[in-house]
Amino acid sequence: MTAVSTESLQGAEGRNGNYPGKGIGAPVGVAVLGMGTVGTEVLRLIHEFSSSLENRIGGPIEVRGVAVSDLTKKRDVLDNFPGITLTDNAHELVEREDVDVVVEVIGGIDYPRELVLSALKHGKSVVTANKALIAAHADEISDAANAAGVDLYYEAAVAAAIPVVGMLRRSLAGDQVQRISGIVNGTTNFILDAMASTGASYEEALAEATRLGYAEADPTADVEGHDAASKAAILASMGFHTRVTYNDVHAEGITNITADDIEAARLAGYTIKLLAICERLVDDEGATTVSARVHPTLVPNEHPLATVDKSYNAVFVEAEAAGRLMFYGNGAGGAPTASAVLGDIVGAARNKIHGGRAPAENPYAHYPVADFGDVPTRYHIDMAVVDRVGVLAEISRRFADQGISISAVRQEEHGDDSRLIVVTHASLERKLAAIVEELKTLDDVRAINSVIRLDG
Ligand code: HSE
Repeated sequence: MTAVSTESLQGAEGRNGNYPGKGIGAPVGVAVLGMGTVGTEVLRLIHEFSSSLENRIGGPIEVRGVAVSDLTKKRDVLDNFPGITLTDNAHELVEREDVDVVVEVIGGIDYPRELVLSALKHGKSVVTANKALIAAHADEISDAANAAGVDLYYEAAVAAAIPVVGMLRRSLAGDQVQRISGIVNGTTNFILDAMASTGASYEEALAEATRLGYAEADPTADVEGHDAASKAAILASMGFHTRVTYNDVHAEGITNITADDIEAARLAGYTIKLLAICERLVDDEGATTVSARVHPTLVPNEHPLATVDKSYNAVFVEAEAAGRLMFYGNGAGGAPTASAVLGDIVGAARNKIHGGRAPAENPYAHYPVADFGDVPTRYHIDMAVVDRVGVLAEISRRFADQGISISAVRQEEHGDDSRLIVVTHASLERKLAAIVEELKTLDDVRAINSVIRLDG
């Protein structure tokens, strides 16, 4: 039996004596760091919902100050907060005596990390929407929150308004989560959906996403899977009670997906989605590891994730007792992200009034993170082969020699060559990657057009 250190039981409820509150009716001082789309929307909603927020919290929210990098810019929403401090000195703001909760919506890693650590050290609870920060530094930041006895909330870091962090943190706290698979990046879902529904190329769909404001001027973090990888790290950490960081996540983006891939998927009954997949894996000896990965994935059309269109997000959770659950909605944008931030502000402010702490992450399980090569996956391999008698037999023999089982084969004429699509059963990623390398060496294989993993 594993010994449990009560020190690791962060945020145990019912210990309010250790975390006394200010008392009903006391104001809760809030500092907002960053006034981009999300920060502006948070301030707008704090003003608009002030009376209901006060009732829910037990005391009024009082915005003490806002930190920005450009003090000269006109910010209309601040007219609703006469007398507050507008500053470019965020460090000074987070240290102020009359600030109880710091809201970090700046983005980036190093600068917000300094501010968040400083806020926690000074006894402020922190609400952040910053997935990159949490995915890279959750241990250090959680330790600082525990040392100070304050709250650390980051619901908005994963899929904005969709309450997945709270769901894993609280609702499924007693269950055993086996697998989380999700569409957690709206930009790439918009692009893949546009390609599937209009036949557009990747470049055309990206241009449309940029025109409509879904894709940023530099879309790298979204299209290369980095944004989804941060979210996968957070989901895996919460779901499996194990620290999984951004660097532990194998990430591939969608830049190589072609209109031909989308069409081949459609003919086979699949939709291509950029999935974040977090899995608990148990080997033949019963040893448990966890995996978190992001890559384009063929999802069967009948799977609920295949129907998630436009820029929507969805997270599909499989838990031992709960069974299958799906959470769907707006995973990006000012108001949906602000909704999640506001929920966290209410939680943190309530604890400041009534005492106690929110349940936090508890990475007690310490499962090792599996090497990506050891993860079972399935491949959909699309290749151009020489159209000659025996080519199919030769290629299937190669798969058999490697112990890889084929689940489906489709062949069609294509000029002088033949297009051959092989779908495998599950095998270790390293074996599947090796067979692709072997196929490339065969004279009969003119080209490997694409290799896309398949889920389900
Ligand atoms: N850029 C992200 C998306 C939202 O497209 O979903 C913020 O994580």
